[in-house]
Amino acid sequence: MASSAEVKGKGGFGSKIGFVLAAAGSAVGLGNIWRFPYLAAKYGGGLFLIIYIILAVTFGFTLMITEIAIGRRTGKSVIGAYKSIDKRFSFLGWLAALVPVIITPYYCVIGGWVLKYLFTFAGGMGTEAAGDGSFFSGFIGEAGQPTVYFFVFLILTALVVMLGVEKGIERISKFMMPVLVVLTLGIAIYTMTLDGAGGGLKYYLLPNFDGFTFEKLLKTIAAAMGQLFYSMSLAMGIMVTYGSYMRKQDSLEKSVRQIEVFDTGIAVLAGLIIVPAVFVFSGGDAGALNAGPGLMFITLPNVFQSMLGGQIVGTVFFVLVALAAMTSSISLMETVVSIIMEKFKLRRIPACLITIAICAILGMLSVLGYSSWDKVTLFGMQFLDFFDFISNNIMMPIVALITCILIGWVTKPKYIEDEVLVSETKFRGKKLVTVMLKFVCIVCMIIILITPFVTKL
Ligand code: PFF
Repeated sequence: MASSAEVKGKGGFGSKIGFVLAAAGSAVGLGNIWRFPYLAAKYGGGLFLIIYIILAVTFGFTLMITEIAIGRRTGKSVIGAYKSIDKRFSFLGWLAALVPVIITPYYCVIGGWVLKYLFTFAGGMGTEAAGDGSFFSGFIGEAGQPTVYFFVFLILTALVVMLGVEKGIERISKFMMPVLVVLTLGIAIYTMTLDGAGGGLKYYLLPNFDGFTFEKLLKTIAAAMGQLFYSMSLAMGIMVTYGSYMRKQDSLEKSVRQIEVFDTGIAVLAGLIIVPAVFVFSGGDAGALNAGPGLMFITLPNVFQSMLGGQIVGTVFFVLVALAAMTSSISLMETVVSIIMEKFKLRRIPACLITIAICAILGMLSVLGYSSWDKVTLFGMQFLDFFDFISNNIMMPIVALITCILIGWVTKPKYIEDEVLVSETKFRGKKLVTVMLKFVCIVCMIIILITPFVTKL
């Protein structure tokens, strides 16, 4: 049996493993490698890990299976999908579609930074990247190089998308994802065996209840939920799009479990690389695991510089980050391309060219926001931070909240069950998904939406 997308000539995944690896490729990205480890370190190590895993198998599972089922059942891009479920919810499709339009450009800008570091380490110049951070601020502070690297990353992403779902996305994911796993395991084993890594491992894996309060627990849950969203590529139309390319005969439930294991596994492994390594380097100071770009582009180059074989470890590390970022940007771009193809009845190549043009304009705002236009801010934020904030903190929770209302209360969770049962005799997660969609996810989304406004996390 062909997928509904294949029937309509859009192309589709040719195998279950191809779908799972592509969706896992979307999920495993920059979020897993630098965001997860520092959040885990900040919110009590093992406690964060436990809360994250519980949320992944409940909240994450529900939202992911819902989105993939919507995609497979409608066979449409995110805009068409929500419209065909209920006309009154057409606006939701548009809102979800706007998220990858905002994220793809700045994600490619950061992808470009990763390429710069990859070439720096591979060229034996890793020592230059170490130091007080002036290498990084000097690099992003002048527009020329970041523009070149941004375009290289953007064009590489677009080339894969142009090749189509099966020949481009599926083929590249089947190659890149196994490589990524091997590289991650390799560096994790190496950094865990460094002298003094044990302290970092304990810090990362064992729950830390020092100064523990109820407020702290709530903040940890909110942070873990936010991260889950980001990490699993939810509420931005990606899983709806990939679901529309999925074959009808493949198991939805099993596929979602496999994607989750992949995504969470790589995140936990990334922590095993980063937390012990930074611990050894800083002499046991957890504060060195600072947030944001500083961790990846300033702290880690220093860590690599200080370790035996750091040049090689640094190169391998940035190859792995580049692979992870690339498979995610491919999924972000494919979502935009699928919308343009469907809305304007265009073929893939022209739709890709339009997407490149949009990304070029919005991406340049992010590049210039750190250099020539660094005086220009939006609500006190630079362009890149602003794009990140409105998409992740505002639009994505709203999309997820309204999706839960739509499926939990308007169509009823049977909408998901019917699609699961197309390829299975039993929907094991039925009770869980029903309770989550109708009540728990809705409460969770409201918490995510209001937390940044009531407390400073
Ligand atoms: N899930 C991917 C990651 O963890 O990096 C892709 C992604 C998610 C990109 C959310 C951007 C984003 F805002």
